[in-house]
Amino acid sequence: MQKPDQDPQGIIIEGLKKRYGQGDTAVDALKGVHMRVAPGEVVGLIGPSGSGKSTLLKCLGAVIDPSAGRMTINGERIYDYGWLVDDLRALRRDRIGFVFQAPYLIPFLNVLDNVALPRMLAGERNEPAREQAMNLLHALDVQHRAQAMPSQLSGGEQQRVAIARGLVNRPPVVLADEPTAPLDSVRAMAVMRILQQMAREYHAAIIVVTHDEKIIPTFRRIYHIRDGITVEEAGEGRPLD
Ligand SMILES: Nc1ncnc2c1ncn2[C@@H]1O[C@H](COP(=O)(O)OP(=O)(O)OP(=O)(O)O)[C@@H](O)[C@H]1O
Ligand SMILES: [Mg+2]
Repeated sequence: MQKPDQDPQGIIIEGLKKRYGQGDTAVDALKGVHMRVAPGEVVGLIGPSGSGKSTLLKCLGAVIDPSAGRMTINGERIYDYGWLVDDLRALRRDRIGFVFQAPYLIPFLNVLDNVALPRMLAGERNEPAREQAMNLLHALDVQHRAQAMPSQLSGGEQQRVAIARGLVNRPPVVLADEPTAPLDSVRAMAVMRILQQMAREYHAAIIVVTHDEKIIPTFRRIYHIRDGITVEEAGEGRPLD
């Protein structure tokens, strides 16, 4: 395990590049991204469509391979012009919480088991896993749909279930892509409150991609991304309560 130079906690991204494809059709989606997120911090990531936001989250979440650069999570360098982690599945399962744009719930499991599944996969027994899942469903105000199948939920309900599932393992890194897009402002704020609580209580480092005007004022720090390059700026950091 290599040590980064400065405070190694949280997320550190240095000079990250991603090229899709090759030759004439190649797309340089990330051209040298720099980003730091401290444990306990929720940062916003904002930029026009096609600017590389989802690509950045997918690289950090080890869903796709970057082309160059370095990434560090809580002091462990996971990528240095190549993956340094042997088991990328275990990295994704144990250390990254994903909340992606289209809720990718498992159609043949009910809501409760969809949320409990990451804990069960991490080796926890079914009952405590379901109890944890139920707590999060309560916090997100979808507990009444616990026994329903995903296809029976509204878009906003599916999104809240996907958020619960992304958080149930208390991962040190949470990557959320437009988590509040289909939600009304009360529920969008409830989601932000839960993310901030996760950050505080579990020292999670959280990145939220958003266009949502309702939640942008809640961030203390925002990264803007344009044409694959990031620029940091201070946010309003308006308290939620
Ligand atoms: N699998 C792929 N193959 C080739 N090009 C891709 C692929 N995925 C994304 N791209 C391209 O990379 C660029 C960045 O895409 P990305 O999905 O990261 O943008 P985004 O900022 O998330 O946009 P949006 O706000 O619309 O979700 C775009 O030009 C996109 O067309
Ligand atoms: Mg996207």
